[in-house]
Amino acid sequence: MPIMAGALAVVAASSSLAADRDEGGDSKHGFQAKLEYCKTCHGLSGEGYRGYFSMPRLAGQQPKYIENQLRAFSERRRVNPVMFNVAHVLSPATLAALSAHFKALNPPPSGGGPKEHLALGKTIFEEGLPESNVPACSACHGPEAKGHEEIPRLAGQLYPYTLQALSYWGKERGQGGTRDDTSAIMVPTTHNLTQEQMSAIAAYLSYMK
Ligand code: HEC
Ligand code: HEC
Repeated sequence: MPIMAGALAVVAASSSLAADRDEGGDSKHGFQAKLEYCKTCHGLSGEGYRGYFSMPRLAGQQPKYIENQLRAFSERRRVNPVMFNVAHVLSPATLAALSAHFKALNPPPSGGGPKEHLALGKTIFEEGLPESNVPACSACHGPEAKGHEEIPRLAGQLYPYTLQALSYWGKERGQGGTRDDTSAIMVPTTHNLTQEQMSAIAAYLSYMK
């Protein structure tokens, strides 16, 4: 009897919705579905993916940073059409669960940056370039580039992604004139690095565990 079956399906669906609500607003199923979706681009272990666009590594990333960036995408302070669509439908509970999940992952670094200027990259990371007003990256991102709270982990990030982030900072981040956007902290640094220095530091970070 098709009508009965339909009615049963409706009852089953609404009772599972009720169960989901008891878990605090976001269903396990919803979380799993979102996670699978993130992984199609960001990699099965959050290791990132080097394609036509690079999909950044999320593994080991600071949850606070992930949450900040998703908010920036959905408020269009950080410009990216793909991530706008992803971010603006995430509930706070799902976002917190996804951020915690990625923090716990630890795949090996992607590597892949050109190797000829790794020594320069290391110097910039550890000491900065006082003559060009570039601070040591480690001063904020930590001696192992693991980040802290709203300061991102950089270790193991994809070379082309880091290079792009540094090269186009002023065009992609901090848009819309919000004064308290955390992206402003990086503006002087990205201004004062040459393209070659950006490449050296991006390569160095791509090999860091
Ligand atoms: C269709 C592909 C795609 C999907 C699906 C996707 N992303 Fe992204 N994501 C990207 C791209 C591309 C970027 C880089 C954007 C840029 O260059 O600014 C990005 C950037 C990010 C960033 C910023 C990382 C950083 O280091 O600043 C976060 C956080 C993020 N994504 C989280 C997620 C989460 C969580 C999901 C699942 C709910 C997800 N993404 C799903 C493509 C995707
Ligand atoms: C004064 C503290 C500070 C210093 C010094 C600093 N950073 Fe940052 N950095 C930040 C903060 C805060 C963010 C997050 C910005 C945001 O929310 O958009 C960031 C973000 C980044 C990102 C974006 C990461 C991503 O996943 O998209 C890169 C790349 C980066 N920094 C590289 C560097 C490099 C390379 C240096 C050294 C030359 C450096 N930073 C020095 C504070 C700092």
